[in-house]
Amino acid sequence: MFKALVLNQEEKKTIATIEQLDDSHLPEGDVLIDVDYSSLNYKDGLAITGKGKIIRNFPMVPGIDLAGTVVSSEDNRYQTGDKVVLTGWGVGENHWGGMAQRARLKADWLVPLPTGFDSKKAMMVGTAGFTAMLCVQALLDADVKPESGEILVTGASGGVGSVAVTLLAQLGYKVAAVTGRVEQNGPLLEKLGASRIIDRTEFEEPARPLEKQIWAGAVDTVGSKVLAKVLAQMDYNSAVAACGLAGGFDLPTTVMPFILRNVRLQGIDSVMCPTEKRIAAWEKLVELLPESFYQQACTEVELDEAPKYADDITNGQVTGRVVIKL
Ligand SMILES: NC(=O)c1ccc[n+]([C@@H]2O[C@H](COP(=O)([O-])OP(=O)(O)OC[C@H]3O[C@@H](n4cnc5c(N)ncnc54)[C@H](OP(=O)(O)O)[C@@H]3O)[C@@H](O)[C@H]2O)c1
Repeated sequence: MFKALVLNQEEKKTIATIEQLDDSHLPEGDVLIDVDYSSLNYKDGLAITGKGKIIRNFPMVPGIDLAGTVVSSEDNRYQTGDKVVLTGWGVGENHWGGMAQRARLKADWLVPLPTGFDSKKAMMVGTAGFTAMLCVQALLDADVKPESGEILVTGASGGVGSVAVTLLAQLGYKVAAVTGRVEQNGPLLEKLGASRIIDRTEFEEPARPLEKQIWAGAVDTVGSKVLAKVLAQMDYNSAVAACGLAGGFDLPTTVMPFILRNVRLQGIDSVMCPTEKRIAAWEKLVELLPESFYQQACTEVELDEAPKYADDITNGQVTGRVVIKL
């Protein structure tokens, strides 16, 4: 028997309960895994609270990522005892996910845990950190260099934002962090490497089509009017990696930054990211994240605490990363 957080729907409300299940309950797949850790991402928050239409088939075990140990495998790429990590592919949305002590998954979805890493650290990074790495990689691919100028990160104290700040600082960029919680999280963001902290209210005023050029690059996790403001302030030939919608999925902007300043807006999706790119991103995360990141920006909770933290993350009240010990 193993413990799982199970979501059901009753009268259009999502109900989360801890249940004892056995392997026969698990969905089909070719690798059976003992889950060591999962993590809490914004999408998990929407799924567990029912605030977002993430899950269409109930019952569902949430958890869009996990790290664990292979129990048995029908695929010769994985053997009993191997350490693996999973993010995305719709796991925790339409296939039972990481918030259970056991999972059965497709081998194609897995990535071997990088050498020098453990399951807990992998989930301290999790989908949010992996996505932050894809955003930073997009800026590197766009040839944005440390000497090009300052890089802006929005939603900076969240999961994606806090890892993006850390990675960019480690790569030698000068990082400005936008947060709605300057007093609460400013000191942490400075420790992670931000050289200045900007209050989110400055980014919530309606943007003019073009404003003073300030940023050589940006990682945006917020969307909506904040991203519109960021675009209006981008330097000539700069790039923005946009991955999130914490502030809304609309984008009230104009074409001006694109056609007059050669600004590139690169969308980032972590869910369907090809395996080769995943492996490279994980290796780079292991290389770049300092030990201090794991001590400063992460909280560990038990499975039965996940619903409370799920509510908090949808209210923008979580700082850094939350990992769930299975
Ligand atoms: N594209 C992908 O593959 C992918 C993957 C992972 C995540 N995401 C998306 O990226 C976003 C961030 O994810 P996360 O896991 O980092 O979530 P998170 O930990 O909740 O962080 C989001 C941060 O955004 C800020 N924020 C919250 N509500 C806001 C609002 N109404 N207006 C402006 N800012 C707000 C807060 O930061 P401050 O308090 O510092 O302002 C919050 O900490 C989410 O929209 C998520 O769905 C996308």
